[in-house]
Amino acid sequence: MEIVIRPTPADVALTAADIVADHVTRGPAVLGLATGSTPLATYSELIRRHTEHGLSFADCVSFNLDEYVGLPKDHPESYREVIRREFTSHIDIPDAKVEGPDGTASDLAAEGARYEAAIDAAGGVDVQLLGIGTDGHIGFNEPGSSLASLTRIKTLTTQTREDNARFFSSIDEVPIHVLTQGLGTISRAKHLLLLATGAGKAEAIEAAVEGPVAAFCPASVLQLHPHVTVVIDDAAASRLR
Ligand code: F6R
Repeated sequence: MEIVIRPTPADVALTAADIVADHVTRGPAVLGLATGSTPLATYSELIRRHTEHGLSFADCVSFNLDEYVGLPKDHPESYREVIRREFTSHIDIPDAKVEGPDGTASDLAAEGARYEAAIDAAGGVDVQLLGIGTDGHIGFNEPGSSLASLTRIKTLTTQTREDNARFFSSIDEVPIHVLTQGLGTISRAKHLLLLATGAGKAEAIEAAVEGPVAAFCPASVLQLHPHVTVVIDDAAASRLR
C-alpha cells in the first residue's frame, strides 16, 4: 500500500487525476467511479484535462460503486445522475458505457448478480476510485460487512444517513437501503485509489491503514490488496504514526 500525503485537498485532486489519467492514456480503461464529495475535485480536474488538453475517455467504460434503492433513476441525488452531472456528461465517454447498479430493479438480488457479471464481462475494473465514510465504509459496505461480499442490498447506518443528509432536504429523505459493490467486488479491481481529505476522516484513515484487517473497519480490506494508492491531505493523515 502506497500512502501519498499532500498538503491540501486541491493537491490530492491533482495527484488522483494524474493516476486516473495515466490509466486512461494507457487505455482502454475500465474506470470504477465513486460519488460523495471527496472525488468531485478530481473529476473537475479530469474534465479540465479533457477540455483543455484533449484527454479522451472515448474508449473507457465506467462502473459506479453503489446506488440508493428506490430513488428514481432521474432523481438528482441518484448516483447514476450525480456521476453524469458531476463527471461523465462533461467528457467524451459514451453515455451507454456509464454503468451503475439499478436501485429501482424489482429483484435486487438478481440485479446484484447482473452487475457483477457486467463488470466481469468488461474485463474487471482497472482503477477504482474510493472515498471513505467516517465509520470506515467503502462503497456502502458498512461496518460488519463481509470482506468477501459481492454486490448486494445493504442498510445504511444512522451515521451514514446523517452524513449524507446534506444532499437532501432532510434526513427522512435519505434512503435507508442501497445496492453496493461488495468488499470482494472492490478487491477484484486491479488498482484501488482511496482518497480522503479533512480532519473528519483522520480516524477512519488511521483504522483503515494502521488498524487490524477487520469487518468493523471495511476499508481495512485494502491492506490485503496488492496495488493500493491512498492519497490524503495533511488533515486526514494527522493521526497516522
Ligand atoms: C460513494 C461511496 C461512499 C463515499 C463515502 C465518503 O459512492 O461509495 O463510500 O465515498 O461515504 O463520502 P464523502 O466523499 O462525501 O465524504
